[in-house]
Amino acid sequence: MNIQQTAIDAAKQAGELIRERAGNIASVETKSSLFDLVTDVDKRAEGIIRRVVSEVYPDHCIFGEESSDGDVGDVSSSHEYVWIVDPLDGTTNFVHGVPFYCVSIGVVHKKELVAGGIYDPMSDELFTAAKSEGAYLNGRLMRVSGEKRIAESLLASDFPANEYRQATVNGMLKLSPLCRNIRTAGSTALELAYVAAGRFSGYWELGLKPWDLAAGVLLVQEAGGRVSDTLGNPYTIETSHVVATNGLIHEELIGHLAEANATG
Ligand code: IPD
Ligand code: CA
Ligand code: CA
Repeated sequence: MNIQQTAIDAAKQAGELIRERAGNIASVETKSSLFDLVTDVDKRAEGIIRRVVSEVYPDHCIFGEESSDGDVGDVSSSHEYVWIVDPLDGTTNFVHGVPFYCVSIGVVHKKELVAGGIYDPMSDELFTAAKSEGAYLNGRLMRVSGEKRIAESLLASDFPANEYRQATVNGMLKLSPLCRNIRTAGSTALELAYVAAGRFSGYWELGLKPWDLAAGVLLVQEAGGRVSDTLGNPYTIETSHVVATNGLIHEELIGHLAEANATG
């Protein structure tokens, strides 16, 4: 089994648990803030991913949201392969019964993304990408959308569970009269997958973690889009303020965010 197939296997097994446990959550706790939630299902899903991956790749490092400390840059300096795992992205939606969340697994080799898989267990949509091999939705090649201007774009963003909510509001106030519309769907990874699939023209958010981004970034890049930080610098695994678009609207979006004081 190769890396891509193992990522898919792990994401699907974790997704099965999440689907079974939707509406039947045993515990909800808070983490870094009152608005940052974790459930027993997040933790169990990460355990499944850890088991599946380590059986096949015992020497790879697994950097998972619910069981890893430290800095992704340091971890990637000391390990050739790192699996960057968000076992349940969109936990707030999961807790409230809103069926928009996913499992997200990105794999880096020497700090470069090489494979990614995002699985939406409720719609049974599997988004995958491997470096230089394109991006796929349930096995069919996917491409970013073709909007050339913000005026014809459907954008997405989210309010993080940290100090960047005001800056997000600044960006929304600036962009909402200028674009077709803005969605705040509550799962960064799945929204990035939607950019890759051409459903959203672009996405931005501040204050994210490596596991929110890794798989989705590779999907967008391999689907022909562009990913940078909010100042326009190329994405690295340490980026936390992100802009991901179809490429065509990228500069225009970054310009508006800068004017609105909505960059990180
Ligand atoms: C969150 C989601 C949300 C984003 C937050 C993330 P979690 O991840 O991706 O869309 O706005 O910044 O923390 O906690 O559900 O894994
Ligand atoms: Ca997340
Ligand atoms: Ca999570």
